[in-house]
Amino acid sequence: MRNDIEKVLISSEEISKRIEEIGKQISRDYEGKDLLMVSVLKGSFIFMSDLVRSVDIPLEVDFMMVSSYVGQVSSGAVKIVKDLDIPLENKDILIVEDILDSGRTLEYISSVLRVRNPNSIKICTLLDKPSRRIANIKADYIGFEVPDEFVVGYGLDFNEKYRNLKYIGLLKPEIYN
Ligand code: IMP
Ligand code: MG
Repeated sequence: MRNDIEKVLISSEEISKRIEEIGKQISRDYEGKDLLMVSVLKGSFIFMSDLVRSVDIPLEVDFMMVSSYVGQVSSGAVKIVKDLDIPLENKDILIVEDILDSGRTLEYISSVLRVRNPNSIKICTLLDKPSRRIANIKADYIGFEVPDEFVVGYGLDFNEKYRNLKYIGLLKPEIYN
């Protein structure tokens, strides 16, 4: 698996350090609130599991899965594959994503969750690719900004593989071709 990686962009140590910082910030910002952290599957599962353990105030977790409509990828249409179990009324929602790219996924999820009357909705993304943004979406907590290149590892996949890498890396071009 290591042989398929062109370059390590963000090391495991850098990720851990940054998550500790974000966790402290979330703990301060949500003190006294009714925090519900919502993981967007599958990409954010590893980030989510490390992030919740770096937050030291009471919180709840829930999971949601969305997918793009097959054959309509460029339309940006998104559907819910697995919905949340927990009602959102009066809760402070923090959506946890692996990467914010075009922003269409988070635009859709935010609009779906907003009508369920939570107290607030914010976004925490491990990676941000601002150069690719189409939707008018900004994250409130960002781990790292990345260039316009396809990255894998630490939850992020290429054809469902490489999620278990401890770091964020670039794939060798021959893997795509
Ligand atoms: P968006 O709706 O364009 O913002 O897409 C976000 C989703 O696309 C992410 O949750 C990822 O699943 C996927 N994605 C976007 N860029 C990458 C990448 O560089 N590597 C792996 N997955 C990506
Ligand atoms: Mg994803």
